[in-house]
Amino acid sequence: MSHVYLSRQLTPAAMTAAESLGLPLVVHDDPDHPPSRQQLLQGVRGASAVITLLTERIDDEVLEAAGSQLRVVANCAVGYDNISVPAAVSRGVVVTNTPGVLDEATADCAFGLVLASARRLVEGDRFIRSGAEWIWGPQAFVGLDVSAGATLGIVGLGRIGMAVARRAAAFNMRILATGSRAAGAEAAGYGVQQVDLQRLLAESDVVSLHCPLTPETRHLIGADQLAAMKPTAILVNTARGPIVDEAALAVALRDGVIAAAGLDVYEDEPRVHPELCALDNVVLLPHIGSAGQATRDAMGRLAVDNVRAVLAGEPPLTPVAG
Ligand code: GLV
Repeated sequence: MSHVYLSRQLTPAAMTAAESLGLPLVVHDDPDHPPSRQQLLQGVRGASAVITLLTERIDDEVLEAAGSQLRVVANCAVGYDNISVPAAVSRGVVVTNTPGVLDEATADCAFGLVLASARRLVEGDRFIRSGAEWIWGPQAFVGLDVSAGATLGIVGLGRIGMAVARRAAAFNMRILATGSRAAGAEAAGYGVQQVDLQRLLAESDVVSLHCPLTPETRHLIGADQLAAMKPTAILVNTARGPIVDEAALAVALRDGVIAAAGLDVYEDEPRVHPELCALDNVVLLPHIGSAGQATRDAMGRLAVDNVRAVLAGEPPLTPVAG
């Protein structure tokens, strides 16, 4: 058995788990930046296992560079649109991700964006820090009342969407959702009503995206879908940037087609559409949905446990479909 390549230093708890694999670890030596393509191609060469992040594109070229001894690519993320699963499958390489352990952290972040966008929290913070004169006023920083029966539309109700629904139910929101789980018992327990996307867009005060990025969901939300939303509505995206046509969103926010947005993810990360940065009615986060300490530890440990299982000839804990 050869080495395990890690494309970034993980949390200390996850690194301890990786050391317990008992194989040499080759860790990309810059903790703050991903490897360049050349560094990635070099680092995977001869590896039995690769633990990677969403910042690395793992495609046929990388798998070829690794060599035929490669057994598993463990993505330290639930989304795995950065990995060419068919290429891995055709080479007999197992691909795993980290579902389940980040649902609550990501739902916290999504709900934080709901509240921050609806009640203009970040805009208010910026205003205070600007040193501008202010006094309490009946119309000052007025926004959307979230818990007075506002409607939340969850696009793609899966594990994370369900955790968001649980929060929304506690906030007394009416909840609409797309996705097969929207018709299930757990969703019914939170008062979720299953609808199609068109109705969800038309009736929601807040639309929150929780579907994976696939060829079908790329630009699922474009100019037409934004126009179908209420002019007072808010769009929240903690899923993947390319689900939204970012240029169309910037125009919609600028022209008042919708009222506000809260974004944790971008179409071409780490680039953010410059027009978004100039707008006050959008809250922008640096892709931190799962960035809770215990969550990041759990993601790293799960990635390592997947590697351990595959190298031991056992079934992986959380293989991706493919
Ligand atoms: C983060 O974006 C993840 O997919 O885990």
